[in-house]
Amino acid sequence: MNNSNFNWKTRKVLVTGGTSFIGSTLTDKLVELGTSVRVVDDLSSGKIENLEGFFTSGREIEFLKADLREPGVARRAVDGIDTVFHLAGDHGGRGYVDLHQAGPASNLLLDGIVFWEAMKAGVEKIVFASSGCVYPNSLQSNPKKELYLTEELVKPPHDADNMYGWAKLMGEETLRAYYGEHGIKTASCRYFTVYGPRGKEDHAVIAMIARAFIKQDPFEVWGNGQQVRNWTYVDDIVKGTILMAEKVDDGSALNLGTMERIKVIEAVKMILKETGHRAKIKLLKDMPTGPMNRVADNSLAKKLLGWEPEVKFADGIKKTIDWYFKTKKKSEVKKYFERSLTER
Ligand SMILES: NC(=O)c1ccc[n+]([C@@H]2O[C@H](COP(=O)([O-])OP(=O)(O)OC[C@H]3O[C@@H](n4cnc5c(N)ncnc54)[C@H](O)[C@@H]3O)[C@@H](O)[C@H]2O)c1
Repeated sequence: MNNSNFNWKTRKVLVTGGTSFIGSTLTDKLVELGTSVRVVDDLSSGKIENLEGFFTSGREIEFLKADLREPGVARRAVDGIDTVFHLAGDHGGRGYVDLHQAGPASNLLLDGIVFWEAMKAGVEKIVFASSGCVYPNSLQSNPKKELYLTEELVKPPHDADNMYGWAKLMGEETLRAYYGEHGIKTASCRYFTVYGPRGKEDHAVIAMIARAFIKQDPFEVWGNGQQVRNWTYVDDIVKGTILMAEKVDDGSALNLGTMERIKVIEAVKMILKETGHRAKIKLLKDMPTGPMNRVADNSLAKKLLGWEPEVKFADGIKKTIDWYFKTKKKSEVKKYFERSLTER
């Protein structure tokens, strides 16, 4: 592990998927640190509005709208870059991940071409947005178990979460091999269920907030509500991602997630209370739930990065509700909400 002092002011950084929820928040932070940033995004699920602050404030970033899988795009994207944050991906919430395999399979191509071109261009470092979806499904079935997923549990026989999880796992393995065989510095961040401002309704917490916002009654909950998660606030994820760039070089994959265990039904009740929405709860037991028990152990990130999540769920949820209610229009949300639960 490298502990050198990093000077972000001298770095030339590429953020793929930089108009996304997490990607744009990372871009904000990097620009704040004085970094020169290029964003490449095809806007397939990212939103250009997430970067509009730059276009109006005159703070410079370079933006290229393009599909990184298309010939020549990844080569152009990495030209002159020393650090790549690779967040572009065919990704969605639980409804998308369960019901779509072909789209996420294209991440094998996308990740492969970005890593290949970065290596050929002499990029110094690649940081990859991986996921808790690389952990074996078989371990995560009992919600009553006090389970914390530690990094070394990802090992053969693998049992990743849908094609999305398999592609993330292959991305991690590719970067490990690139470090071992090509000497390029790499690191993978295993994000766990991220939420916060700019999040989208395809993910559970924002979907719950949207249901309260449009005053859904009965208030629908997928599954029996007993699923356990460790929702992690986006600012904590961004801090962890930057620390990974600074401190991990050897292809390791680290968990970035809180160790707060929250059940879906508890999150629902907190959101109903916070928004003042009184509604009957209706459990939709046949809808996709994902694993029943997914919570990270973050002690390795604490040890190697000095990283610890700072935002408690109860506080993060308030900030997220606040943002959602201030920025959304009911009539608009009603139009796209149902579709957003299974599409990206
Ligand atoms: N949100 C979460 O809870 C979570 C959890 C684990 C991992 N991740 C990973 O973090 C990253 C960011 O996710 P997010 O939730 O912020 O939003 P997201 O899924 O919208 O981000 C993906 C971004 O990549 C862009 N993109 C997709 N395919 C592209 C292509 N071929 N060429 C160029 N751009 C392309 C999209 O437009 C979007 O901006 C993704 O890689 C995702 O898999 C997210």
